[in-house]
Amino acid sequence: MNKADVIIVGSGIASLQLARHLRKDLNVIVLTKSKLRQSNSTYAQGGIAAALHEEDHPCAHYLDTMEAGRYMNDSSKTLQMTSEAPEIVHNLIQDGCVFDYDASGSLALGKEGAHSYNRIVHGGGDQTGRRIVEGLISKLSSNISIYENQFVFELVKDAAGECCGVRSKSPDGSHHLYTAPHVVLGTGGCGQLYTYTSNAETVTGDGMALAYLAGAELSDMEFIQFHPTLLFKNGETKGLVSEAVRGEGAELTDEKGNRLMQNIHPLKDLAPRHVVAQTIYAHLHKGGHVYLDIRSIPNFPKRFPTITSMCERNDISIEKGFIPVAPGCHFSMGGVSIDQLGRTTVSGLYAIGEAACSGVHGANRLASNSLLEALVYGKRLAHYINHNHLTHIQKPVERVYDHSPSSLPLPAREEIQRRMMDCVGIVRSEIDLLQHKNWLESFPIDEIPKFDLSLLTIEQANILLMLQTSHLITCSALEREESRGGHFRSDYPEEIELWKRKQIVQQRTLERR
Ligand code: SIN
Repeated sequence: MNKADVIIVGSGIASLQLARHLRKDLNVIVLTKSKLRQSNSTYAQGGIAAALHEEDHPCAHYLDTMEAGRYMNDSSKTLQMTSEAPEIVHNLIQDGCVFDYDASGSLALGKEGAHSYNRIVHGGGDQTGRRIVEGLISKLSSNISIYENQFVFELVKDAAGECCGVRSKSPDGSHHLYTAPHVVLGTGGCGQLYTYTSNAETVTGDGMALAYLAGAELSDMEFIQFHPTLLFKNGETKGLVSEAVRGEGAELTDEKGNRLMQNIHPLKDLAPRHVVAQTIYAHLHKGGHVYLDIRSIPNFPKRFPTITSMCERNDISIEKGFIPVAPGCHFSMGGVSIDQLGRTTVSGLYAIGEAACSGVHGANRLASNSLLEALVYGKRLAHYINHNHLTHIQKPVERVYDHSPSSLPLPAREEIQRRMMDCVGIVRSEIDLLQHKNWLESFPIDEIPKFDLSLLTIEQANILLMLQTSHLITCSALEREESRGGHFRSDYPEEIELWKRKQIVQQRTLERR
């Protein structure tokens, strides 16, 4: 058994920020599913939103965030976040993160969809996530132990019902128990539940399923953001083409060169993401093609080196000036319910970053607020743990498992992804959602807590957690009979005022409040 003061599951920016700000006398274990740098954070292109422009203000950033979130956001937490943003950026600069500057020596502030000012801090053009990850890793001290290739398949509790550790499995088949009074989920979202996705291979919604199985409350799971522009080649998405590309002047066109967003929204190509994604989806669904016309952007390869090399790898010529795109799953607004400090409803268990639902994103996240949220909550939780650390002995309850799950009939992950895309994707309906729910329930999801998942292969256990998280999303999407932000129902295509205050929460049984 490995004992620590804090266990952090996941190694994205929320987790690294937490680890960097924890007290140096705390023994911290970071468990990551693959490699330390393998996370959505590393791939993040756009940047961090912060009201740093002289005419901008955190209140304007707050208002844009609320509007994008279709007013489902927790307003006080949202204002707190936008107010802390400028300081968070300055902290990163002090930590050695290298951002881009303009000719006058000020931070270069980019523009992205639904922002009323230029406020996107970026580094290396479109390598912002990588720059922050490297800056934070360089600040980690020797009290932080990082264990790679650890697939966490269970949260363990003590006799009082407090979370006190995790069980994990390594690729060689060995399994491990780690205990600590503070267990933090920084596992990211669930983008790999969908065929078309901008997310890293590892991001399969594990933290959400683990928290649910441990009895924690989850909320807003129906709100999934589809990014409008993923590179699209031979019917497959190949990675993100940042919204910053449209911020620099690129325009969406159809196959005849007509501007796609012309009469759709006053903000045209920089309309909120769900509006742009739904418009592109509708056009592709009719058999059309959609392109980003980048011809107006001077020196594209210098401003967007990551996108340029992705296009080159996929034989798309930047010189010709048209990048074929399709929307794909990008971000989960919902997740494990947390308070303003990162505490879940299970004592000893915390969640930060995309795994969590802090309420700051509402029904749809404003561009470049995800790194911001991760940084704000990572730091805040560190502060809380630093001042509330109790050293008591953790004694996990010996679980009795009812079933041996070794011969489970399970679907392949590609089938889950395809069905999620078709039935719980950009456009949803009761018929599709019910059909998908029934399919998911043909697998033993209800039985998962009775299984000893250490007896399964990592892939089998991962599939079970994917089914669990898919079920949570599907049930929430079925429940919300309106369209709002990242949740579009063809059978309820309008926003309905009554639903604005209704949050769908799930805690083993589905309830409304
Ligand atoms: C992008 O670069 O378009 C993605 C940034 C974000 O999702 O906030």
